[in-house]
Amino acid sequence: MKFFVDTADTAEIADLAETGLLDGVTTNPSLIAKAGRDFIEVTKEICGLTSGPVSAEVVALDHAGMMREAEVLRKIADNVCIKVPLTVDGLKTCKKLTSDGTMVNVTLCFSANQALLAAKAGATFISPFVGRHDDNGFDGMALINDIRLIYDNYAFSTEILVASIRHPIHVLESARIGADVATMPPAVIRSLFKHVLTDKGIEGFLADWAKTGQSI
Ligand code: E4P
Repeated sequence: MKFFVDTADTAEIADLAETGLLDGVTTNPSLIAKAGRDFIEVTKEICGLTSGPVSAEVVALDHAGMMREAEVLRKIADNVCIKVPLTVDGLKTCKKLTSDGTMVNVTLCFSANQALLAAKAGATFISPFVGRHDDNGFDGMALINDIRLIYDNYAFSTEILVASIRHPIHVLESARIGADVATMPPAVIRSLFKHVLTDKGIEGFLADWAKTGQSI
């Protein structure tokens, strides 16, 4: 499973890229606002920190406007992936961009039928939002299960990019189901490394090692 980080904080991205475990980055207009930086400038910097796909989202709602914005965004770097909302105009834009060879991430997916449409439109990635789904009383992981089943039934190559991840269990369940990608806030990626017994084990080994009086 690929790991993307869901942030526009370049210091966090640079730090996580050093682990060698980072496969890409996702941003959205809220994350760009949080970073408080120029959209084009920060996206260019992010594209230099990873060779993987970097999702940059359009804000126009009509097909012509989305195409105009995508033209600007795809000139930033070869690894830019244009993010479009799951609407009729978004999927029209997806079809056009992917037939030109541009990567497209279809975002704000909340149903398996929407994911089916995105795959038919040739999306590179579909982003079902599991956290927001759960927040509203739906079952986010059941949605991932359904999309996996449907994509496998028809051998769609669209990758399932699990988004709106809130905690490590979302990551574990995504991996069990066979989702292709999980995009996570930096804190969730960091939490995957942690286990109380790992910390306790290191503490015990170091205490015993100190008793030997040796050094390496
Ligand atoms: C990523 O592509 C999505 O925009 C993001 O995961 C949404 O997460 P949120 O529901 O925590 O805002």
